[in-house]
Amino acid sequence: LYNLTLTINDEPVTRAIDSTVLLVDLLRETLNLKGTHIGCDTAQCGACTVLIDGASVKACSVLALQMTGAAVTTVEGLTSSERPSNVQQAFSSAHALQCGFCTPGMIMRTHEIMAQGKVLSRAQIAHELEGNLCRCTGYVPIIDAIEALCKLD
Ligand code: FES
Ligand code: FES
Repeated sequence: LYNLTLTINDEPVTRAIDSTVLLVDLLRETLNLKGTHIGCDTAQCGACTVLIDGASVKACSVLALQMTGAAVTTVEGLTSSERPSNVQQAFSSAHALQCGFCTPGMIMRTHEIMAQGKVLSRAQIAHELEGNLCRCTGYVPIIDAIEALCKLD
């Protein structure tokens, strides 16, 4: 086992883990942060998207040990102040979810998109979301939500 120290949702975390443990499994199985979903396990669907030092990353595509010293934010970390983030509020207002399976990953990806501070067209938003799949095909309201966020900025 190897010692891993990192920050998750602003809390310091230290665990002794096997070198083969994926970040998504550390989050879900060891830390019980089940908001990070597993859709494909092959880095295609984006359901497992988290922020690592502010950048969106598919947590099924990286080893937990690679996160040594990093700051990881999961969807649970967005509501630590007990208020939904502006992205979560925009998704809610636009009814940008159906079954909700893709939603945590979409929201984490959207946080990174919005951090760029750009006003994006609908086509550009769709392009930015190419790594995140919605199996309910609810892309129109998701793009509506992000477009509304762009107009707020
Ligand atoms: S579960 Fe990670 S990209 Fe699909
Ligand atoms: S809302 Fe069902 S997968 Fe996107």
